[in-house]
Amino acid sequence: MYPYNLCLPTNLVFGKGRVSELPDLVSGMGKNVLLAYGGGSIKKIGLYDRVKALLNGFNIVELSGIEPNPKIGSVREGVRLCRENKVDFILAVGGGSVIDCVKNVACGVFYEGDPWDLVLDRTKIGKSLPIVSILTLAATGSEYDGGAVITNPDTHEKLALLGGPSLFPKISILDPEYTYTVSARQTAAGSADIFNHTLESYLVKEGNILTDGICEGMLKTVIKYAPIAIKDPQNYEARAALMQVASFGCNDVPAIGRTPSVWVCHGIEHEVSAWYDITHGVGLAILTPPLMRWTLRDPVSLDRFYQYGTNVWGIAPSDDKMKVANEAIDRTAEFFKSIGLPARLSELGITDEHFGEMADHVLAHWWPLDKAMRPVDRDGVIEILKMSL
Ligand code: NZQ
Ligand code: ZN
Repeated sequence: MYPYNLCLPTNLVFGKGRVSELPDLVSGMGKNVLLAYGGGSIKKIGLYDRVKALLNGFNIVELSGIEPNPKIGSVREGVRLCRENKVDFILAVGGGSVIDCVKNVACGVFYEGDPWDLVLDRTKIGKSLPIVSILTLAATGSEYDGGAVITNPDTHEKLALLGGPSLFPKISILDPEYTYTVSARQTAAGSADIFNHTLESYLVKEGNILTDGICEGMLKTVIKYAPIAIKDPQNYEARAALMQVASFGCNDVPAIGRTPSVWVCHGIEHEVSAWYDITHGVGLAILTPPLMRWTLRDPVSLDRFYQYGTNVWGIAPSDDKMKVANEAIDRTAEFFKSIGLPARLSELGITDEHFGEMADHVLAHWWPLDKAMRPVDRDGVIEILKMSL
């Protein structure tokens, strides 16, 4: 059993209609609020008006137009607004991109230099403004973790801001009904993201009964409910199940006591979205099966893939473990295809032009990929990317 720290300082408020509790939940946090949101979906679903009505009496200043794959420019604007308006807390309403952006704003306010410095060097992160989130898309787990992913288009970098407990939202309100309008494509991408977060924790050398069960339950939840949510977007049970598991993707609950993961698929995907601004979950869905096939070539991973096949996909136990492991990978690829996700980078117009730069960058800026179940080096990154073309 590996040693671990687990600190989850967020009040998760889950269930239908619970947005109405917002005024009570934020009472005592101050009156000056930065209301942050994306390209307008919260207006279409009536949540913007609802929040404004609930915060009647508060001084609200707005940061709007936060992009998917949030850019450092939006962070800088948010920092300026918070300083000029003496903001007491930030209310993020939206998906992972909005929540991620405000995490960088929250710590950027108390840092004299450019907030991008905090992405490059986490030791510079100090105090942060409190964050409250109202989630509208089940995917990243940003509502219940201390990380964020910020893009600097000038340098083609998409990097993790790792704030730890101080950047967890203080409160996250999760009402599955606000995800009814998420498009089929975005629901599929979010589901692939949840699935891949779980695999990053699950596919490591050493597990334990508790977290094997948590991971397998999360994976089976996505396999069961993503197709239902896509076919029947207003199915509460499906939207609720996806929202429930999404929150545990990146907060280490599925990873406690296991061999520490170096999140290979995420490291490589962030390189691809840094260059091509693709949807994160789409990139993960494309990269996952090739990465699995590449990893399985090292016999050290065979038992783990065999367990994945029997316990998650229900493949009959067999003495031919390799056959079960390969079938499990095939089933994974078929699953992503069945929910409408592309299977190749070339379908997104991506070529091998920047693979060398991507490999160099991920090896320099990500967790050490040589600590993966099958150690990954520069050639490995390039081979996995080529297998995904
Ligand atoms: O911008 P708006 O108008 O809000 O529209 C968004 C956006 O176009 C739309 N959307 C959100 N809720 C909706 C809705 N449309 C209709 N109805 C609703 N209820 O969906 C689109 C995508 O939103 P976005 O927030 O970008 O998606 P997601 O939640 O998947 O976030 C992706 C970002 O999170 C990062 C990714 O890299 C990417 O930048 N990640 C953050 C992590 C974290 N903080 O822990 C971990 C993840 O691995 C991931 O890297
Ligand atoms: Zn992810």
